[in-house]
Amino acid sequence: MDIDLSTEICGIKFKNPVLLASGCAGYGEEFDPFFDISIVGGVCLKGLSLNENEGNNSPRIWETPSGMINAIGLQNIGVKRFLKEKASKLRKIETVFIANFYGSKIDDYVELAKILNDEESIKVLEMNISCPNVQEGGIQFGSDPSLVYKIVSSCKRVVNKPLWVKLTPYGEIKKTSKSAYEAGADALVAINTIPSMAIDVENFKFRVSNKVGGLSGPAIHPIALKMVYDVLDEVPIPVIGCGGVSKAQDGVEFLLIGAKAFQVGTSLFYNPETPVEIIEGLKDYLQRKSLNSVSDIIGKMKNNKLGG
Ligand SMILES: Cc1cc2nc3c(=O)[nH]c(=O)nc-3n(C[C@H](O)[C@H](O)[C@H](O)COP(=O)(O)O)c2cc1C
Repeated sequence: MDIDLSTEICGIKFKNPVLLASGCAGYGEEFDPFFDISIVGGVCLKGLSLNENEGNNSPRIWETPSGMINAIGLQNIGVKRFLKEKASKLRKIETVFIANFYGSKIDDYVELAKILNDEESIKVLEMNISCPNVQEGGIQFGSDPSLVYKIVSSCKRVVNKPLWVKLTPYGEIKKTSKSAYEAGADALVAINTIPSMAIDVENFKFRVSNKVGGLSGPAIHPIALKMVYDVLDEVPIPVIGCGGVSKAQDGVEFLLIGAKAFQVGTSLFYNPETPVEIIEGLKDYLQRKSLNSVSDIIGKMKNNKLGG
């Protein structure tokens, strides 16, 4: 039986619903030793800012039970170097590249949105208004519904490619998702990492130099699933699930609840071949259920009410 894994979001076809999450897949080259990234539905590139950013001081990563705290601080090469050094290679790879971007003020976001909208290799823009480990921008934009409205509507005015807004689990996600939708977001991504902390009690030190980091990995998956459920209850636009996907079953959960696709992040660090396994696992799952298309499971459990 031929299995169709494709999914469509905002008029763009993805060959399967498996996307690589921003910050966990660099600029698309990191996986060359492991697999051909054109097998995945899409790749969210490392978050870009107007200027190059060295990020926070070390230590920036701490492993927790079933998860990881990171306080990288959005280190990146800046949009100019991205366009000069990376973009042309991406044009030759047959997958959907999604440009993730952030700024420390609204004008930065608008400027970046304009620049990235004009780059041929980029098919979708993903605004990060949800990073917990930077001093400016990030989470304070993402958790205030009126700021979310302002920043999303300002960017929406200058782009014609689909604009995805990546939400923070911090604050009231139903309110922020509604603001993003009303401001013109074409799709929402839920969730970014969860603000978190860990302490070395022997040496009286924070485990990451920034003190606060973002928790990701399998530990956050059930939280992300509930948040995607809530967001889908609030807005009629497509939602992409993100958080703790390490196997096909986790992705299937996002799809059943109504997400059109899902992103794979932290698991790439300890098992770079996760996407290959998930794609195979999705096919096996559909076959086992005698279904031949991923669209048969998207939203199958969306209308099951809570408490039932
Ligand atoms: C090391 C690291 C760097 C990240 N960098 C970004 C980033 O630049 N932009 C962004 O929107 N999200 C970033 N994220 C968040 C991930 O894209 C994802 O939302 C989060 O890790 C939850 O998914 P996961 O549990 O599958 O990792 C980063 C996460 C990690 C672990």
